[in-house]
Amino acid sequence: MNVVPGRVITLTGRVDHNASRFEFNLLTGAYNGADVAFHFNPRFDQREAVRNSCQGGGWGPEEKQGGFPLHPGQQFEIQIICFPEHYQVNCNGHAWYTYRHRIPYQQVQALQVKGDVTITNVYAY
Ligand code: GAL
Repeated sequence: MNVVPGRVITLTGRVDHNASRFEFNLLTGAYNGADVAFHFNPRFDQREAVRNSCQGGGWGPEEKQGGFPLHPGQQFEIQIICFPEHYQVNCNGHAWYTYRHRIPYQQVQALQVKGDVTITNVYAY
């Protein structure tokens, strides 16, 4: 998975009924210890969608503004759109938040999904 401005990554899926947390990560490599250029971590236990980056094993400041439109058991479509300065994230057709690049998008090599979610489709154009 490489990322350039204009690229749209569309993920469709369903949140687990008993969901606590899940995460989407844009990684700088497909190995343990890769930096996380973009960590997107909906936390149903806190009703917050935490965003962050991890460089050299250290997390930066969390971003979590913009509300929390996801629900356990719910189907969703999330789009991650790369712009030159940020990612724009949409949920079910509505703008959700932006995340300014901390690690250059040119370093992204992999998309990782973890936690209490089932992904039914991933599409990038
Ligand atoms: C930590 C958590 C990580 C990641 C990070 C984001 O507390 O263990 O998985 O979500 O927050 O800031």
